[in-house]
Amino acid sequence: MSFFADKVVLVTGGASGIGRALGTELGRRGARVVFADLDADGAESAARHSRELGAAAESMALDVTDLEAFQQQVDGLTKSHGRIDILFNNAGIGVTGEFRDLPSEAWSRVIEVNLKGVIHGIQAVYPHMLRQGHGHIANTACVAGLVPLPMTSAYSASKHAVVGLSGSMRAEAAREGIRVSVICPGIVDTDMFDSIEYFGVDKQALLSPVGGAMMTPEICAQKILRGVERNRAVIVIGFHARLMWWLYRLAPRPFLRLIGLGFRLFRKQIQHRSQ
Ligand SMILES: NC(=O)c1ccc[n+]([C@@H]2O[C@H](COP(=O)([O-])OP(=O)(O)OC[C@H]3O[C@@H](n4cnc5c(N)ncnc54)[C@H](O)[C@@H]3O)[C@@H](O)[C@H]2O)c1
Repeated sequence: MSFFADKVVLVTGGASGIGRALGTELGRRGARVVFADLDADGAESAARHSRELGAAAESMALDVTDLEAFQQQVDGLTKSHGRIDILFNNAGIGVTGEFRDLPSEAWSRVIEVNLKGVIHGIQAVYPHMLRQGHGHIANTACVAGLVPLPMTSAYSASKHAVVGLSGSMRAEAAREGIRVSVICPGIVDTDMFDSIEYFGVDKQALLSPVGGAMMTPEICAQKILRGVERNRAVIVIGFHARLMWWLYRLAPRPFLRLIGLGFRLFRKQIQHRSQ
């Protein structure tokens, strides 16, 4: 029997990309999945698809920036299902550009969704998990939450905070029988790259060097579930992501010099193209 069979699982950002693939794979493995998203129609479409595959799936309209709504929805879910076993705090948005080009509103949006959305999720499920004496909270960060990368200061700040929050909580929660993991994928081929806000940089120019390194959301979802099943503290996904993390920990100064050099070359190329 699958580790996830009959588990009650809430996936935020479940309408698209990694969240949708995660929910679908969880449904295949016998979990009772709730696809939650700001995009209520997208969440229902993901749940319907999962039900067509034989899963017990439902959808939930949810804005993770709204703590009260998050708490109400989770309270309702635990009432109807009797418990909540796993929360995937997956919803997130992207913002890219050099710090000097990022408006304050972009900073606020990314912190509100990527960091406060994760905090709200924990605030909503943790009291239930403490009462149950079990549960798993899996927060999605990014490789940009482990290593410093240029053009991502706002996004990276939100994701570094999610990594710190998750590590800190893991130690506290373990003695209550609750597991906490943080998920750090490399580049995954999802709609996020269409919805990212690009400031002072062209989407094509930014993505063309990394296109070949993208993985599918389905492969990413399988690797996430393997990490969660094994209760990994930090689930780093993708060869390039693991290599960067390893290099940064092994030799931070040369790594930063290399990243700086890469950025200067990238900027030169862009200037050259626009002349
Ligand atoms: N795609 C990548 O390369 C990549 C890499 C590393 C980490 N991540 C992270 O993975 C997570 C999922 O990203 P994705 O690539 O699947 O993106 P995506 O855009 O395909 O999906 C994100 C989902 O989150 C939802 N969402 C956005 N704001 C919300 C809110 N306030 N409340 C509820 N739902 C909201 C969107 O409607 C969307 O369905 C994000 O946290 C992202 O930062 C993505």
